[in-house]
This record gives sequence, C-alpha cells and structure tokens, in this order.
Amino acid sequence: MTTQEPWDIETILVHGGRSSSTGPASGKPTVQPIYASTTYLHDSVEALDQAFSGKTPEGEPAFVYARQANPNANAFEETMALAEKGVGAVACASGMAAIHVALLAAGLTTGTKIVASQDLYGPTIGIIRKLFLPIGAELVLADLCTPEGIAVIQEEQPDVVYVETVSNPLTKMADLAAISAAAQEVGAITIVDSTFSTPYLVRPIEYGFDLVLHSATKYISGHGDSTGGVVISAKNTLLDQLRSYSILLGAMLSPFESHLLLRGLRTLSLRMERHCSNALHVARFLKDHPAIARVHYPGLEDHPQHELAKQLMGSFGGLLAFELKEQTREAAFHFMNALQLCLPVTSLGDVFSLVSYPAISSHRTLSPAELQHMGITEGCIRMSVGVEHLEDILQDLDQALNH
Ligand SMILES: Cc1ncc(COP(=O)(O)O)c(C=O)c1O
Repeated sequence: MTTQEPWDIETILVHGGRSSSTGPASGKPTVQPIYASTTYLHDSVEALDQAFSGKTPEGEPAFVYARQANPNANAFEETMALAEKGVGAVACASGMAAIHVALLAAGLTTGTKIVASQDLYGPTIGIIRKLFLPIGAELVLADLCTPEGIAVIQEEQPDVVYVETVSNPLTKMADLAAISAAAQEVGAITIVDSTFSTPYLVRPIEYGFDLVLHSATKYISGHGDSTGGVVISAKNTLLDQLRSYSILLGAMLSPFESHLLLRGLRTLSLRMERHCSNALHVARFLKDHPAIARVHYPGLEDHPQHELAKQLMGSFGGLLAFELKEQTREAAFHFMNALQLCLPVTSLGDVFSLVSYPAISSHRTLSPAELQHMGITEGCIRMSVGVEHLEDILQDLDQALNH
C-alpha cells in the first residue's frame, strides 16, 4: 500500500500490509504468506552486512533474524503506523512487552520522573514499581482525567507522562489535547495506552502524543485467539529507541501472531462500529433496569465527559461498567454465574460479550481501600460488549439480573 494516497482509516485497515507480499510478479498471493523462517539469506555477505541496518540501499525493509524484524511483523507495523499517523511502529509479543519497551524508549531510568494516571491498568503501575522505582525513577500518580490532575504535570515537571485514553473499568476519558499541551510545556515525553479506543476511534498522535501503544490482544486481534502489542511513534528518534530495546529484550512479535493481528485489523472498523452501537444500547438498557444502580459509559449523557468523548472519538467504544443495586461481591458473582451467553473471562475487545469483576481480575492487587478510592464498588462489573445480535445480549443480561 502506498503511503502517498490519502486513504481513509477504514481503507488503510482493510488493505494495510498487502504490498509487503513477496514472490513472482504474476500469481503473487493477495494475502502475505507466513514467513516462519528465523533467518534470512542475502546475495553476499556485503548485502547481509547492509541488511543488519534493517533497510536495503533502496530503503526497502531488509531481514536478517526474526527477533530483530520479520516480514509479517513488518506488515503489521506498517499498517499500524499508517492507521495511527506515526512515523513507524514496533510490534511486540504482548501489550505488557509494548509497555516495557515504550517506557524504556521514553527514557524512564535512574533520576527521571513519570507522572501517570492513577487509573492505569494495574500491571502498568506494577511494571513501573517493580522495574523502574528500584533503579531510582520516581512515580507520581494523579487523576489525569481532571484539570486538577493535569495541573500536576506543571507542578511535578516530569520527564514522562503516561495515560490511557479510556480508563478501566469506569470509562473516565483523558483530555488528550490538554495533557499533551501540559507535557510539552515541561518537555515531557508522552505515552498513551489506546487499547480501549483503537485507531478507529481516536489517533492520539493528532493531539501531540509521542508514543501510542496497544494491547493488540484486545480489539486489534478481536477474536480472542492471539496475543500481541504494538507501539507507534510520532518521532524517528523514539522509533530507533523502541526498535533497539525491543531487539535487546526479545520482545518481537512472532510471524504467526503478526499474521493474525494483521487479519484482525482488516475487520476492525466493522467490529468497532458494531461494538459501539451494541454498547450504547446495552448501556441505555442497564440504566433503566431496576436491578442496576449506575452505569459508566461515555455514550450516556450523564457521563461527566460525554462531550469530550463525543469530540475525541465520535462514538463511544465497546466497554462499560455497571453497579448492581445490591452492592455485594456475592450478588455480582451470582449475576455472572447466571449469564448464559456473555462470558465471564478476563479480557476485552473480543467478538464475544465478556464480563469481568475488576476486584478479582484487572484490579486484583489493589486493597479494598484502594478500590474504594478509585470508585470501584463491590457491585461493580465491567462489560466488553461483543458483536452478537443485540436482542440476545439484552435478553441474557435481563435473565441474569432477574435471576
Ligand atoms: C489497557 C491495557 N493495556 C495493556 C494490557 C496488557 O496487554 P497484554 O495482556 O496483551 O499484555 C491490558 C491487558 O488487559 C490492558 O487492558
């Protein structure tokens, strides 16, 4: 796919990575084959030497060893870079690997400071605490979904700022333009985890972010059958750092997973459209249900950042959280056990509707007091609304709530 064409994101996602196919000019496969090879041959040792740079003299991708780069990961990376409007991307073996590589590339190390959103995915805070604080980095957590939280960036003058577009599970929205402006003022590198919104809904580089990352295991894969991550860079210097850390850590995505994730991207727009429309209907249904106390979904007019969500994403994503009127863990478990269609599993973004109880999954490591501080109540359940027929989802929720 040429980069000159001003294709819409929907077209980029459908056709991205196709031109990476190699083979005879006639009879060339439409879909890139899976290159399982770990090593790549070159015409001469001189050409091999050149290929270690990652490019041929003509500027085409050159491959040497699969951990450094491979054609399938390259096709996935090219498509993600085009979709997110970055200068390039690095595909990783998981979302956590992408987070690790992004933090290193952003320069988080001894004597540097990171201001991060207090609502981050638990293991993201975990990786900062376990790997970076012991070597002398400093972590300041703030509610970056509020203007007061954003003001902390000015006060703390960090080197790195880290947010998520939509928070887990309460769907708080980050004002990307305001956060990136505050970070730029103090010269901080900005990282955003855009897993929940995907490039279909928002492209944070357009708001001035430096690094955008995804757990590709979620919406990008979409089918619950592949694990991966990706970091997209707005700047070449950061891209070089990402690649170099990814090679050293052995974080590279395998050819097989790359193939699946690129295939996932081809239907991302269609799936996201359905996720968003189903989720809006589910949110409205739950809001009016007598067994429900509260629904957290940016598409509802009473969501505190409804307008911001509309402006950033146009539509509102496939993820929501709701609180049962009976605010107990027993009631939440009882409801989840009674579901017949929606699956009680710990992930999101799949074609299937999935429910999870944050206190035993994504927020498992937090104490009851910390959960309360974050506003995650005993009756709080997260739902990733799938692409099934809407009436079937509503019927399943209704029967389980009335159980
Ligand atoms: C927002 C977010 N970021 C990152 C990750 C980590 O991704 P992975 O499980 O692919 O390592 C997750 C996993 O749930 C997530 O929800």
